[in-house]
Amino acid sequence: MERLNIAIDGPAGAGKSTISKAVAQELGILYLDTGAMYRALALKAIRLGIDPNDASRVVPMLPGTSVSVRSEGGVQRTLLDGEDVSGEIRTQQIAKGASDIGVIPEVRVKLAECQREIAKNADVVMEGREIGSYVIPQTPYKFYVTASSDERAARRLRELHAKGLELDKTHGQMKAEIEARDHTDSHRATAPLIRVPDAVYVDTTDMSLDEAVNFVLARIRRKS
Ligand code: DC
Repeated sequence: MERLNIAIDGPAGAGKSTISKAVAQELGILYLDTGAMYRALALKAIRLGIDPNDASRVVPMLPGTSVSVRSEGGVQRTLLDGEDVSGEIRTQQIAKGASDIGVIPEVRVKLAECQREIAKNADVVMEGREIGSYVIPQTPYKFYVTASSDERAARRLRELHAKGLELDKTHGQMKAEIEARDHTDSHRATAPLIRVPDAVYVDTTDMSLDEAVNFVLARIRRKS
């Protein structure tokens, strides 16, 4: 049976997660946040005192490391070597570590294999940076979600502040961090963040969440 695989890519803070979760819920299918998997690997490296940029130490760590996900009532739990790390991976330090560790080709190969296996076995909305260009390029359902870096920084700051995190960070600092992460994600040699020509472009700068979700759903329904 042909699986419904939906790829939602774009830079940090563009609204991908919110849109992906809402679309998955509306369609009654699985939601997979692939960034959480990169974050889990970064967390392990940092706990071991390994710099996520240091491929010579990260690569040997990979065979003994398992990253898996499970869905609990539509909410993704991310497991690192069997431990639920869903909360711990949500800091800016881990976000940067994930961006850095994602530059290492062996890391990408390991996680992409796991993501392809999930896509083969389930209808899924998969959110990331290179899902439509590299992980499941054969899918006809590809979206590239973005927004201005000002707006993305404001959203990310609101999200973190709501959780009581990074309370002393300014808008300017957050914008600089987001732009640095965009640069790393877009310039890595293996599977960078790019907008593929067949992805539907969604600029959420001036869109409400509902508008963005309805727009994406309408495009999916038009094709299926
Ligand atoms: O989506 P996020 O903010 O949780 O992602 C954190 C970092 O992980 C992101 O800056 C780059 C990396 N990442 C990646 O390289 N490929 C993905 N499919 C998802 C995330």
